Amino acid sequence: MNARALAFEGLKAVLLEGRSLSAVQSELLSRCPPQARPLLQKLLFGVLRWHGSLQALLKPLMKRPLKARDADIGLLLELGAFQLHFMDAIPAHAAVNETIRLLPKKKQWARGLINGVLRNLTRTDEAERARWLACCDRARYSHPDWLIDRLKRDWPDHWSQILEANNEDPPLTLRVNPLKIERDAFMALPDVAALDPRPHPLAPQAVVLREGTDVRRLPGFDEGWFSVQDAAAQQAAHLLDPRPGERILDACAAPGGKTTHLLELTRDQTHVLALEKDPARIERLQENLERLRLHAQVRQGDAARPDDWWDGEPFDRILLDAPCSATGIIRRHPDIKWHRTPEDIEALTRTQAAILDALWPLLKPGGRMLYATCSVLAAENRGQINAFLTRTPDARLVPIDHLPCHGTPGCQLLPGVQEMDGFFHALLEKSP
Ligand SMILES: C[S@@+](CC[C@H](N)C(=O)[O-])C[C@H]1O[C@@H](n2cnc3c(N)ncnc32)[C@H](O)[C@@H]1O
Repeated sequence: MNARALAFEGLKAVLLEGRSLSAVQSELLSRCPPQARPLLQKLLFGVLRWHGSLQALLKPLMKRPLKARDADIGLLLELGAFQLHFMDAIPAHAAVNETIRLLPKKKQWARGLINGVLRNLTRTDEAERARWLACCDRARYSHPDWLIDRLKRDWPDHWSQILEANNEDPPLTLRVNPLKIERDAFMALPDVAALDPRPHPLAPQAVVLREGTDVRRLPGFDEGWFSVQDAAAQQAAHLLDPRPGERILDACAAPGGKTTHLLELTRDQTHVLALEKDPARIERLQENLERLRLHAQVRQGDAARPDDWWDGEPFDRILLDAPCSATGIIRRHPDIKWHRTPEDIEALTRTQAAILDALWPLLKPGGRMLYATCSVLAAENRGQINAFLTRTPDARLVPIDHLPCHGTPGCQLLPGVQEMDGFFHALLEKSP
């Protein structure tokens, strides 16, 4: 199987069968020869990122739209068009011929169509393509219309900045484990120094690498010297500011990125109950705790139903890293923008409110809860917190003034700003 064939398989799985890119990607990479993996990743991410623009480039070249049952031919055309429009290093004849070779046996009738459309694309000039892409926001920004409209409404001054950032390649950000090694010492290790690492100015443990790499090959991975975590996500544990000896609830914990950070900050000297609803994700949480040599009480349970798992002892601090639309991390997971629907956002908003209300009584008077999401949508973030503050008289908002926050209440980090993901944090305190 070559990279293009695997990319075609992956695109069908994600865009036609609705599977998540992360799940599909790891399966495909394991079947791909190591030297072909960079091309596979580029094709898979590239077509998903630019799906809306590629459709706009192909439409004027097609006599009529494809039938629904031939959606796979549409994806093949996009795979070819991506190489022609976005990958200068690939010669046009290779892009066209290799695309035709991927045609399923039963669909050889489409040979002429693919050949004609892709060759005609090679004959168009930059100005013509730019005109097609300027037709509408979906083509220009490669996002679905409903999401563009929602971002325009939520972020009248920042929507285009958000959409553009969502189409950028993100950095790879690590969190160095201070219980094992200092950040400067880690960056000075020859294998790390070779990757041109930079300390993140807003996250004391964060190291930013511009290029992706196989982190399992970096020094100290098996020994728990570092984790992969974006600098925006790294803010959560610092904002909650856990102290040794406290009882802390991490209510939506898997795969444990923030559980382990809370433990690192307290030298593994605090009682963390790591709750997770999805049994399949608990395994990864356990693996991360083991790799980092940290200790938490792990439990499967629904955060909205404390009666099933709470022992009645209140918590000093609660982290609610809520299930959300993930619209803040589209640059890392471009499939998200094509999978989410407005109905999903409504359902998620209801779930988040139910969990907030269920967990608030578990917090000690004077205790703090951090509500966090990797979303940029107002309904899940400032709208959610506004509504919660209105119906919860013993809750007050603690200001966050050291981060580049947008909007209020809470702190919305926008994707791409200071190289961070889109993330929302609201720190809530219960009246003493
Ligand atoms: C944003 S992820 C958490 C990421 C994690 N905090 C980290 O930093 O690695 C949200 C998690 O909440 C879990 N979840 C969703 N609904 C839940 C519920 N009602 N109770 C507990 N966990 C839930 C999901 O399965 C998912 O693992």
